[in-house]
Amino acid sequence: MTDFAQSELAPLVGVAAPVDATVGARTLVLNSVDSTNIYAAELVRKGEFVEGQAIFADRQTDGRGRMGRSWHCPDAAGILLSVILTPDLAAAYLPAITAIGALALADAVESVAPAEARIRWPNDVVVDHAKIAGVLARIEKTPDGGRCFVLGVGLNVNIAREEFPPDIPPATSLQVCAGRPVSRLEAAKALLRSLDEWYRRLKAGDFGAIEARLRERSSLLGREITVEYRGETITGVASDISLVDGLTITLPDGSARVCHESVTSLAGHGRT
Ligand code: BTN
Repeated sequence: MTDFAQSELAPLVGVAAPVDATVGARTLVLNSVDSTNIYAAELVRKGEFVEGQAIFADRQTDGRGRMGRSWHCPDAAGILLSVILTPDLAAAYLPAITAIGALALADAVESVAPAEARIRWPNDVVVDHAKIAGVLARIEKTPDGGRCFVLGVGLNVNIAREEFPPDIPPATSLQVCAGRPVSRLEAAKALLRSLDEWYRRLKAGDFGAIEARLRERSSLLGREITVEYRGETITGVASDISLVDGLTITLPDGSARVCHESVTSLAGHGRT
């Protein structure tokens, strides 16, 4: 595995961040890898990482998505990134890792394309109800028995509408939003910058700010949805989102059900 000098992302190699930033404090750009999440997990297991280390790839041969799905992206057409984070986080707030990934992606989308980005809780970023990015966070063990997080994000950048397989749920890209190709380098820089800001808030324990923005950016709140959760089908109106409790659904009889991140499917009546 070598750093990829020819990549559009090559200027990020080394230190991609401003001096006071944590995210991107060390950055690798790989030509091809099975999965940046797997690569990052190996660095963690060997103890060969710094906090905020970013691993980009131009190509993944075994890109991982949520719920055991795979993540596909044409070569050098997206942002495929894993970041190693080491916050001291109480168990109840673990969903904050996924949340800051989604918030940073949404910020990055809006900073490089004329688009309104929303978050389809817990981990999809959508534009006009089509998925443009996703988050996959994992906990990994360090050699000294500690734990840290690998936050993986995939963002569709220069993928034309007709390149998306017809048999997947609606998907989009920055190129489709902008009507022209978009610089992956600019998108990657915007993403690192925003992720650093959200990570700073997370480490400061400012969960209120994270939750408030999650609610503002939600594509679900106020809509009727159906989720599969722990073997049950629940239909009602998405009425709240919080880091600790997850998604609250208000049922037609006025009672409320709370679902954590382990929902196995989520569909909107009307578009989410
Ligand atoms: C999802 O929406 O299901 C999550 C997708 C996460 C994909 C990214 S691409 C970079 C990182 N490496 C992986 O193998 N997966 C994540």
